[in-house]
Amino acid sequence: MGRLGSLAKLLLAVGLNVQQCFGQNGPPTPYTDSETGITFATWSVPDRAEGGNGLAPWGGLTFGVALPENALTTDATELIGYLKCGSNGTTTDAWCGLSFGGPMTNSLLLMAWPHEDEILTSFRFASGYTRPDLYTGDAKLTQISSTIDKDHFTLIFRCQNCLAWNQDGASGSASTSAGSLILGWASALRAPTNAGCPAEINFNFHNNGQMIWGATLDESAANPSYSEWAAKATATVTGDCGGATPTTTTTTTTSVPTATGIPVPTGTYDYIVVGAGAGGIPLADKLSEAGKSVLLIEKGPPSSGRWGGTLKPEWLKDTNLTRFDVPGLCNEIWVNSAGVACTDTDQMAGCVLGGGTAVNAGLWWKPYNLDWDYNFPRGWKSRDMAAATRRVFSRIPGTDNPSMDGKRYLQQGFEILAGGLKAAGWTEVTANDAPNKKNHTYSHSPFMFSGGERGGPMGTYLVSASRRKNFHLWTGTAVKRVVRTGGHITGLEVEPFVNGGYTGVVNVTSITGRVVLSAGAFGSAKILLRSGIGPEDQLEIVKSSTDGPTMISDSSWITLPVGYNLEDHTNTDTVVTHPDVVFYDFYEAGHPNVTDKDLYLNSRAGILAQAAPNIGPMFWEEIKGKDGVVRQLQWTARVEGSAGTPNGYAMTMSQYLGRGAKSRGRMTITKALTTVVSTVPYLQDKNDVEAVIQGIKNLQAALSNVKNLTWTYPPSNTTVEDFVNNMLVSYTNRRSNHWIGTNKLGTDDGRSRGGSAVVDLNTKVYGTDNLFVVDAGIFPGHITTNPTSYIVIAAERASERILDLPPARAQPRFAQCGGRTWTGSFQCAAPYTCQYRNERYSQCR
Ligand code: HEM
Ligand SMILES: *[C@@H]1O[C@H](CO)[C@@H](O)[C@H](O)[C@H]1NC(C)=O
Ligand SMILES: *[C@@H]1O[C@H](CO)[C@@H](O)[C@H](O)[C@H]1NC(C)=O
Ligand SMILES: *[C@@H]1O[C@H](CO)[C@@H](O)[C@H](O)[C@H]1NC(C)=O
Ligand SMILES: *[C@@H]1O[C@H](CO)[C@@H](O)[C@H](O)[C@H]1NC(C)=O
Ligand SMILES: *[C@@H]1O[C@H](CO)[C@@H](O)[C@H](O)[C@H]1NC(C)=O
Ligand SMILES: *[C@@H]1O[C@H](CO)[C@@H](O)[C@H](O)[C@H]1NC(C)=O
Ligand SMILES: *[C@@H]1O[C@H](CO)[C@@H](O)[C@H](O)[C@H]1NC(C)=O
Repeated sequence: MGRLGSLAKLLLAVGLNVQQCFGQNGPPTPYTDSETGITFATWSVPDRAEGGNGLAPWGGLTFGVALPENALTTDATELIGYLKCGSNGTTTDAWCGLSFGGPMTNSLLLMAWPHEDEILTSFRFASGYTRPDLYTGDAKLTQISSTIDKDHFTLIFRCQNCLAWNQDGASGSASTSAGSLILGWASALRAPTNAGCPAEINFNFHNNGQMIWGATLDESAANPSYSEWAAKATATVTGDCGGATPTTTTTTTTSVPTATGIPVPTGTYDYIVVGAGAGGIPLADKLSEAGKSVLLIEKGPPSSGRWGGTLKPEWLKDTNLTRFDVPGLCNEIWVNSAGVACTDTDQMAGCVLGGGTAVNAGLWWKPYNLDWDYNFPRGWKSRDMAAATRRVFSRIPGTDNPSMDGKRYLQQGFEILAGGLKAAGWTEVTANDAPNKKNHTYSHSPFMFSGGERGGPMGTYLVSASRRKNFHLWTGTAVKRVVRTGGHITGLEVEPFVNGGYTGVVNVTSITGRVVLSAGAFGSAKILLRSGIGPEDQLEIVKSSTDGPTMISDSSWITLPVGYNLEDHTNTDTVVTHPDVVFYDFYEAGHPNVTDKDLYLNSRAGILAQAAPNIGPMFWEEIKGKDGVVRQLQWTARVEGSAGTPNGYAMTMSQYLGRGAKSRGRMTITKALTTVVSTVPYLQDKNDVEAVIQGIKNLQAALSNVKNLTWTYPPSNTTVEDFVNNMLVSYTNRRSNHWIGTNKLGTDDGRSRGGSAVVDLNTKVYGTDNLFVVDAGIFPGHITTNPTSYIVIAAERASERILDLPPARAQPRFAQCGGRTWTGSFQCAAPYTCQYRNERYSQCR
């Protein structure tokens, strides 16, 4: 139930974006520790204070490995590690960490920090982008040596069972025989609290940087003396937990809810909509407007102040606003993600009321006709979407001038790039007045903001819905699975996600009731899998999980390609600098200066009424590939450094590869009932790669007329081909968080061999008569822009089609009620039940 958090671009949240630090990728530097004599293969990130590039950590960081002699041919299960981390010159107030799998999520994590005269460590595991849990697997660390001085702390340790991991069934591994490891580091310049007891520490985001890197293994990594060295690991350093067995109270990341709940009240609903994001909110409003009784269930807590949200910095104390409501605070979310980020998906998704529309930067686009016409089947072409589009834009017109005083703030960056594009023959447009002009055009950024606040579906559709007596909203309640008899859903099993959520089975109106999943590309797919709907290999995993004993029996499984067709905009960051650029530090907007604060509080004006991190210009290009397919690029510029160029004069220009891209990935479920992106949808197709390369070259050419503009990424001594081809392809550095496609809409019924669709043209799940999916998961392919408005429009369109469907009917005796290609009713009038005859035919008897 990630909500659409996963989809609406969280975004540009990403001053934190992963840095590609070339010093660290690639072959190691051998290093022999003089005290122990152990030789390591090491990779380093230089100290920022000593010329390390802008986003390198203060104090630098070095990681080294020594592996058993045969590790390059036979996968090792242990290693000796060398970890040297910085503490910023004056104090040992720090922690640092490693990921043995690369990304933060779904990998074994190791944290280390100095405490008194020891270095303490803790193994961790994160199923989402929020504070990692204690690791419960069998990794074991014994220390060989440690040193602490005022600038650095260094730990040499033996790590057993560290190259394969398993947390409640979510598993993975790193292979030393594969020639390289993908690793990740994170560094923080603040000590954990309760630092003396590793199981009880509390800590926040790594404010001194993070990165993944490809660590090439060579002979310096494997050594015949390994066993001799490993024998030196004799110190088990446990810290002091006061004698008692630690009971952890500090960790929050569990995929299975543990909150206390309230029993579901009696009563049934014509429609239950699961997930209050870009899809679920408008849909619930439309259905309730039509007079249906509607229950909208949101897993997370309220976000916006309007709905009872409370998370806010001090300066918003006496207002009706939370940090979700203020555009300038939109990138706070990921540095302080507890209670906001989903914990059951390995991507950055908002599990709060509003979903993605609560945590994104609010970009709001009138659709390009071709996006519907190219990707979607009949009934969903641009002309079919026109009325829905008009309705959406009448409720949420959006603005490209969000500050209420009509001014745009800190536009230097915009002017520089827009000036260059114009001189190169590109055309300025008002994006939402000319939605079909997406080749060699540029514009200011339109946002869904209204009145200087976030607005969007939570400020419009949810307001009108909540005025109706036939509309009900539950927050803090997670949906575990649908309850079904064959292809007919009778209700939902719910459990509390936060204290006060509901627990039990909530039912839809007998015979005619319907359920709509709008929990996002990952969330809706997960509910289907737990309900016995999906590919067989995935349903087997659910069956082997804690769900197993209560899961619907195999004979009722509905085989559909849930989780396939996963797509996201392929993101490629580029960076330029120019002396006229003026940077604003939105990360300081937790305590803004008095001018900015007053302007916002008194007039909803100023820089804080604009989305962080000062986004614009937006620009577009369409490139025809050798395969004849036109691929769409959208560029989002923002005033912020990345990839090693510091904030100040830098602009990051993120290239999204959208419509036309052929690469697809896959989402799967783990035994821990978390979802993971197991195949990334990036750059598997040669012409996709070509479009990315050509787009960068064309942009370089277009901006070549701009005096004093310097390309730092790619640097001028690197060809674009090398730049793109040598970049790691991981979700860490290529995601846009615009995940779509896992429950594809289409006419080719996925129950049949070769069929690729999970839902039909009415968004109804094949093999069911009253279960629907309405969110970005149904998008067959990617679009030009950030997807929020398209999802809202799709929900408006789906409401027309769903309301038009004739009410379901229970079948009389002897009527058909199931079968592999059956698309009629799956329910029988009492006293008859639907009985299986053969694969093609079930009958009411
Ligand atoms: C409260 C604790 C933490 C929070 C809120 C947090 C949050 C995040 C977020 C939001 C990102 C993505 C940054 C971006 O793409 O811009 C990230 C990346 C990363 N984190 Fe953490 N983190 C925490 C603790 C840790 C710990 C303890 C480790 C390792 C021991 C770690 C390792 C990493 C690594 C290696 C990355 C980069 C790779 C990736 O994006 O997956 N994190 N973290
Ligand atoms: C680290 O130290 C430098 C130099 O004293 C200082 O400018 C910087 O703000 C410090 N960084 C952090 C994250 O504390
Ligand atoms: C929903 O229906 C089931 C099965 O008939 C029943 O056990 C359950 O109590 C119902 N839930 C509510 C809240 O009435
Ligand atoms: C806060 O109050 C103002 C004034 O009544 C109103 O215009 C605005 O919509 C409210 N915002 C939220 C998020 O409740
Ligand atoms: C606050 O910052 C703004 C830039 O956003 C600047 O123009 C203004 O002078 C600053 N005000 C104070 C009181 O420092
Ligand atoms: C996009 O515009 C450029 C410049 O006018 C043109 O050369 C190119 O063919 C156009 N692309 C497509 C796919 O039409
Ligand atoms: C470029 O930089 C030089 C030196 O800093 C400066 O004199 C000149 O005015 C700048 N030109 C432009 C067009 O910004
Ligand atoms: C490019 O230049 C940078 C410094 O300007 C240097 O560190 C790097 O090694 C060079 N890269 C190549 C491929 O020559």
